[in-house]
Amino acid sequence: MMKILMSLIMSTAALTGAAVDISSPNGALRLNVDVDSAGTPVYSLDYKGKQLVAPGKLGLKADETAFTDGFRIVGVDTVTVDRTWEPVWGEYDKVRDHFRELALHLEADKPDRKLTIRFRVFDDGLGFRYELPVQDGPNYLTLRDEITEFNFTGDHKLYCIPGDYDTDEYLWSETSFSKLPEALGNYRRHSEAQRTGGNTIQTPMLMKTADPVYVNIHEAALDGYPAMLLDVDTENNSMSAHLVPDRLGVSAYLQMPFNTPWRTLIVSDDARDILSSQLVLNLNEPCKIEDTSWIKPMKFMGVWWEMFTGNQKTWAYSDDSLAKPGVTDYSKLKPNGRHPANTENVKKYIDFASENGIDGVLVEGWNEGWEDWASFRKNRQFLFDKPYPDFDVPALRDYAKEKGVKLIMHHETAANAADYELQLDRAFQYMKDNNYDAVKTGYVGAIIPRSEHHTSQWMVDHARHVIERAADYKIMVDSHEAPRPTGLCRTYPNWLAQESARGGEFESMGGNPPSHTCILPFTRLKGGPMDYTPGLFETRMSYYNEGKDSQAGTTLARQLALYLTMPSPMQMACDLPENYQRFPDAFQFIKDVPVDWSDSKYLEAEPNRYITVARRDKNSDNWFVGAITDENPRTATIDLSFLPKGEKFEATIYEDAPGAHWKDNPQAYRIRKVEVDSRKKLKQPLAAGGGAAIMLRKK
Ligand code: NOJ
Ligand code: CA
Repeated sequence: MMKILMSLIMSTAALTGAAVDISSPNGALRLNVDVDSAGTPVYSLDYKGKQLVAPGKLGLKADETAFTDGFRIVGVDTVTVDRTWEPVWGEYDKVRDHFRELALHLEADKPDRKLTIRFRVFDDGLGFRYELPVQDGPNYLTLRDEITEFNFTGDHKLYCIPGDYDTDEYLWSETSFSKLPEALGNYRRHSEAQRTGGNTIQTPMLMKTADPVYVNIHEAALDGYPAMLLDVDTENNSMSAHLVPDRLGVSAYLQMPFNTPWRTLIVSDDARDILSSQLVLNLNEPCKIEDTSWIKPMKFMGVWWEMFTGNQKTWAYSDDSLAKPGVTDYSKLKPNGRHPANTENVKKYIDFASENGIDGVLVEGWNEGWEDWASFRKNRQFLFDKPYPDFDVPALRDYAKEKGVKLIMHHETAANAADYELQLDRAFQYMKDNNYDAVKTGYVGAIIPRSEHHTSQWMVDHARHVIERAADYKIMVDSHEAPRPTGLCRTYPNWLAQESARGGEFESMGGNPPSHTCILPFTRLKGGPMDYTPGLFETRMSYYNEGKDSQAGTTLARQLALYLTMPSPMQMACDLPENYQRFPDAFQFIKDVPVDWSDSKYLEAEPNRYITVARRDKNSDNWFVGAITDENPRTATIDLSFLPKGEKFEATIYEDAPGAHWKDNPQAYRIRKVEVDSRKKLKQPLAAGGGAAIMLRKK
């Protein structure tokens, strides 16, 4: 399954103590590593002959000992690797992993310490991690801090969200080092527990220099370690790692030998290269699942949007509560009549999905526990094998099977991760017994155990445990409110998607501005696909409920383009079946668009402004194009030179009609067909907050 072409050049430098240099295969990036006069490891990075990252310190601090100073270089290994691997699903059918590696071996005395820092320099960026071999001194560490610095040389632009231990569901700021305090001050603070205070931001984040050079900072292969935030020094244009601690202030409990996640910088002077970079995936371990034949990219609908529209529908079966005296079991609860996760309604979704070639139907609010959004019943809120009385699991299992549709289970844990681990085997067995092979998980609320945060080491371990157990049961996972993805979907390709950012659901809660989906691909998506939930055709909340005036920041045509610009192997068609029935010709695009690709070409891109991308279907010769803009109208230039020469294609263009506007006229779209070939450059108008989606079918 994995083809590896590898060329190795190895050398071990003599004990030097002097600075070492290594450049990327094409020479554009040049890394310099050294130890300073205090014996602290330092690194800097040049891009195209100019300093991009100024010397920055590296090290780890634990209660037992510090790996920060007193070091001397005892060896340097370098190697060049050029290999290609084939992802189970994704934007490309082959990924080239080409880098020069430098392993810096360090030792210190009094007390004795050993540390290796491994650097990989790619044409599109840098990755490095700390490797702690078995020591003569303590081999268990109570890690308090990682001092990794990212020092820059100017007051660069920053695209970021506030640092938060528990949520990523923020809108993005386009700001700069010097203006960051003002930008962060504008955010509504959550609870005391979630506040990091100071000028802390999250990764992935994006930076743009005046030249411009674009830099995405994130991490790869986050496993057994807490997520990294960044403390920003706004006066010195620098940042340093801020590990998410538990509530005792401990970042991580480590046992040697241990390798940290990779710290990553994706670098280019062309914004499109940030989008096409596979650096984060390349730094993850190869697939650990031997037989991947059961992992199937899919489109799905859901008993979901009904509960967001504000029309009073509920996840809960009853308005009563088990917490009431005398009420002891669900059969005694009075149904509220506003519970869409009922057999009859779910059958309607199954029928619609079946008629329209949609693979799956997610059902939220199917199981006991939603009445009491607090822990009870011996600290157990949700039961993952206890359906509500109006949700007939065996009948729906048979009905879905007959209709060729897969039901998708929902496990909202209310953030009780400890209890979810206890129920996990039962829950997954229950899924298998009832023919479910995909689950959406959720962690809304404060994490139990209360000692933890959503992105602390314990929860990172939890997420990996869930994904591994799911693989044992051949279950695919879409996780919400889980630690931000760092490319682990390469190692565990059953991890089809994650939320871990502000998704489409916020269109019902004030709305996402059009620019939001013009920044996510540069930031959040570098860790892995997002379950953004595109496909919203009715964007005015007043349509569902007169009292609600919020509106989605999008035109209808743009929602189609999101299937290309927000690629995911688990892609939702989020709207109600009845809204798709109102616009069947536009819905045709959602039916036709694939969710797995053999190639992708980023044609135009600027963060927070616009993205135009073309992708080739993994299972046919058809190409698809998506183009989006921010709140400003724009004409996209779609250069079709990626098409095979001499072949004719029929382009079906779904576009904003003249006069379309995300706010005043979102549903004005039109569909036209033209014949094109590789010589054609389409000039494609996009409305304010609009977009275009194109299907290119080989003639
Ligand atoms: C938040 C998730 O993001 C959303 O998709 C889900 O419907 C609710 N939690 C309820 O679990
Ligand atoms: Ca969420």
